[in-house]
Amino acid sequence: MTEKTAAPDRRLFLAALLGAILLVTLVVGMLAGCSPKAPAASEGNGGAASTEASADAEDPMANQPVNWTMESDCATCHTTEAASATDTACPQDVAHEAEGITCVQCHTDEAVLSTEHANVTYADKPASKATVDTVDPQTCISCHGDLDEVAKLTADSTALTDDKGTTVNPHERPEGERHDEVPATCTDCHNNHSKDLSKDAMKYCAQCHHRGVFECGTCHELRERSVS
Ligand code: HEC
Ligand code: HEC
Ligand code: HEC
Ligand code: HEC
Ligand code: HEC
Ligand code: HEC
Repeated sequence: MTEKTAAPDRRLFLAALLGAILLVTLVVGMLAGCSPKAPAASEGNGGAASTEASADAEDPMANQPVNWTMESDCATCHTTEAASATDTACPQDVAHEAEGITCVQCHTDEAVLSTEHANVTYADKPASKATVDTVDPQTCISCHGDLDEVAKLTADSTALTDDKGTTVNPHERPEGERHDEVPATCTDCHNNHSKDLSKDAMKYCAQCHHRGVFECGTCHELRERSVS
């Protein structure tokens, strides 16, 4: 009789212990995920460690080395970016998919990519925001032309309109000292996988302008804002 009740008790205790260990692993993993961005590579690996541990139990292949190359099947791991190619809410990627443009035609910086993938496993969770530059704006320009050329296409665009109704062509800002000092490049605004290009572009402007106001000098003397 006692045998029968003791056994489930011990199992219950073991299950609770395992649960507690999993919880601690999870919390540590979350803390690592929230830590400052600075060392991007080690952050990814730190966050990955906990994912590995839990995925390990389900999938023994999870920890196998990846031996990443430019010919790897990117979509296996980058499911979000692969999905944007068929999501009509992401017109840029849908347009490029229709042209048969592959990942590495835009993500050309093999050196940076190799470093990023040096220690990845199939269990690692890729970043959902760009933390490194691997797309050369010259690639965009080689197909679309430079700012002057694309500015002609967006002469009637109202995508960048501030709260006072001032509209600016995203590819042709008014001349100004700071605009000339810090010229915009394609990837400052365009993320191929984004659902909201206008919002991304506004975010770029808001590095210097207050949100919703393009003008300067009407409220206070011109003061410099540093650009991150
Ligand atoms: C037409 C060019 C283009 C193509 C094709 C493309 N990307 Fe991107 N991708 C970009 C740009 C631009 C960004 C934003 C980069 C930046 O801000 O520096 C980006 C961002 C990313 C990021 C960073 C996370 C994010 O979503 O912002 C990943 C990962 C990524 N792409 C993977 C892929 C994969 C995998 C494919 C193929 C399935 C792919 N890309 C195809 C241009 C492209
Ligand atoms: C085995 C899974 C896997 C495969 C296959 C893979 N990646 Fe990744 N990739 C990752 C992980 C995980 C990271 C994040 C690494 C880190 O944070 O240190 C990453 C990072 C990236 C980044 C940087 C995102 C950022 O932070 O800005 C880009 C761009 C990218 N991958 C593109 C590609 C492309 C292009 C391919 C195909 C040639 C590819 N990846 C294949 C798992 C993979
Ligand atoms: C290999 C050539 C090629 C490269 C590289 C390329 N594009 Fe494209 N892109 C095209 C073609 C072709 C189309 C579809 C026809 C068109 O709209 O011009 C297109 C469409 C677009 C569109 C319009 C999507 C829509 O709303 O219909 C945008 C925006 C765009 N590309 C931006 C970019 C940016 C930014 C880059 C660099 C990250 C880039 N492209 C890289 C060829 C390219
Ligand atoms: C690097 C900082 C910076 C960025 C980024 C920036 N601006 Fe500006 N902008 C300024 C400054 C500073 C002025 C004041 C004129 C000058 O000295 O350049 C200005 C002036 C302007 C003006 C004229 C305002 C007036 O009082 O007549 C407009 C319109 C404008 N910017 C729109 C934009 C838009 C739209 C974006 C985003 C696509 C943008 N700017 C991005 C710094 C910036
Ligand atoms: C300041 C942000 C910003 C920069 C920098 C920028 N773009 Fe754009 N681009 C936009 C916005 C916003 C739109 C959408 C305009 C609209 O739909 O009204 C756009 C639209 C486009 C389109 C579609 C035009 C059409 O309607 O047919 C192409 C192609 C494009 N951009 C290419 C580029 C290229 C190439 C570069 C670099 C030389 C570049 N862009 C730089 C913000 C930007
Ligand atoms: C609609 C009124 C208004 C306009 C237009 C305006 N500002 Fe401001 N700005 C403010 C207010 C309000 C503050 C906060 C109080 C203060 O420090 O004066 C501020 C603060 C600042 C600061 C110091 C704090 C910070 O956020 O860094 C800088 C720098 C600045 N503005 C730069 C600019 C630049 C550059 C422009 C034009 C691109 C501009 N402002 C246009 C109202 C405005």
